[in-house]
Amino acid sequence: MQNFDVVVIGGGPGGYVAAIRAAQLGFSTACIDGYRRKDKYSLGGTCLNVGCIPSKALLQSSENYAELTHSFADHGISCDNPKIDVKKMIARKEDIVNKNSNGISFLFKKNKITELHGWASFSANKDGKWVISIDDQGKKEEISATHVIVATGSNSRHLPQIATDNVNILDNEGALDLTETPKELCVIGAGVIGLEMGSVWARLGAKVTVLEASDKFLGAADEQVAKELHKNLVKQGLEIKTGVKIGEIKNAKKKVTVNYELGGEKLKLECDKLLVSIGRIPNTNGLNPEAVGLKLDERGFIVVDADCRTNLPNVWAIGDVVRGPMLAHKASDEGIIVAERIAGQHPHLDFNTIPWVIYTNPEIAWVGKTEQQLTAEGIKFKKGVASFMANGRALGLGHNVGFVKMLACEETDRILGVHMVGPFVSELISEAVVAMEFMASSEDLARIIHAHPSLSEVTHEAALACDKRQLHG
Ligand code: FAD
Ligand code: NAI
Repeated sequence: MQNFDVVVIGGGPGGYVAAIRAAQLGFSTACIDGYRRKDKYSLGGTCLNVGCIPSKALLQSSENYAELTHSFADHGISCDNPKIDVKKMIARKEDIVNKNSNGISFLFKKNKITELHGWASFSANKDGKWVISIDDQGKKEEISATHVIVATGSNSRHLPQIATDNVNILDNEGALDLTETPKELCVIGAGVIGLEMGSVWARLGAKVTVLEASDKFLGAADEQVAKELHKNLVKQGLEIKTGVKIGEIKNAKKKVTVNYELGGEKLKLECDKLLVSIGRIPNTNGLNPEAVGLKLDERGFIVVDADCRTNLPNVWAIGDVVRGPMLAHKASDEGIIVAERIAGQHPHLDFNTIPWVIYTNPEIAWVGKTEQQLTAEGIKFKKGVASFMANGRALGLGHNVGFVKMLACEETDRILGVHMVGPFVSELISEAVVAMEFMASSEDLARIIHAHPSLSEVTHEAALACDKRQLHG
């Protein structure tokens, strides 16, 4: 039986990064992944195959189309009869996914990581080593390891009343692979996937209706930011209904009927495609946690401490399969800290400075606490808000909606949260993350020189506004 210092189960952004870091630290390392896309093993997990990367490719393509059809005329650019070739757009996305996935294999070779394919499960603990079985389409193999890092990720949560066929009833996989724009797309769940994928297909001409159970739109985000995003999405044609109770759903060949209740009224919606995006569930299927007594919580997540240790010696778990936000960068960072802990180092991951980004138009991004959280916790804070409206760079881009809001401790001026809605805030948020990680005050940012003309001047202005020193507002 082949033995490794470290075996990583799962080749997503948590697992593959953990494997690279472990190999860099001198451990003999293997990474096992069972995911197959288009009949081929494909490293990269949810993020690369059916998540972050393909969704951002489609968001960009659809944004380009929307610019061409709606905004370019303002620049004096016009073209007759613009068209979108959805099949080509999907092929481009596939190409990006393939390139990135092959890139991981390249990195594995470069770092001398053994790449193994198939579904892995715990088998036993023999002489202090974990025995892992791998099922590669019926071909079985066993390997052993001193340390195991479980990075098996998550899968879409489905509605109990309707089966997902990824033809008419879609989860993220189906929504990323449509070969034509649906006429009517219904989205259940106004979360991150619903809003991003709803935006893609709305920009390409679908009539999109989003049905959300919660009374509040995007409850995790700062209320003012959520309100601004809501206003803009409605302007783009998305119909968003909150406080909805989903009833029976019928999937006839060419038509899906969604029955729902809103404010006591029984309603129904007919559409050609239905996207169900109501959250994700941890993936421990097939891992055989019972065989070794690996502890799961009541929702199926692997129980870990702050350092990603499970209840079993030398078994670690990271990413979507454990507590915390289901984000690729959180998974990767946990992968790095676990590999370093195995090497006896003492790295630290600060959960308070994990950035969130939603890639709608306008984008929203935040780090730290919202105004509502600070108020609920009784923390006194000051607030600086600056708008993109008159920012020269934003005007040049033709994207000048939104604002940056900075929240700083009233007493110490330490930044406690930064909330952004507007152009390229996915990039701008990094400055706020770095500032918070270094425990910066709003004055620190206010006194840093920001390039002109740039979108980052709005962050600068928000920092100045914390002390009522805003120059352009
Ligand atoms: P995964 O990426 O899920 O990888 C786990 C891998 O392990 C998979 O390949 C799985 O098949 C494999 N596996 C599972 N069980 C076994 C087993 N027993 N044996 C072998 N292999 C196994 N996050 C962001 O930060 N930014 C975004 O923009 C973003 N966009 C997203 C868009 C969509 C549509 C979706 C669905 C998700 C998005 N996410 C985004 C979330 C992100 O994809 C996840 O947080 C991230 O992939 C989690 O990484 P992971 O390594 O924990 O798990
Ligand atoms: P989500 O948790 O973001 O949103 C799910 C939404 O569905 C919630 O608003 C919830 O109230 C609603 N909901 C739940 N049950 C419902 C029901 N029965 N009827 C109607 N509404 C219901 O989950 P989503 O969008 O599936 O995404 C999963 C995760 O993937 C995200 O939480 C995020 O961690 C990750 N992701 C991250 C992205 C990013 O970073 N840009 C992009 C896409 C996904």
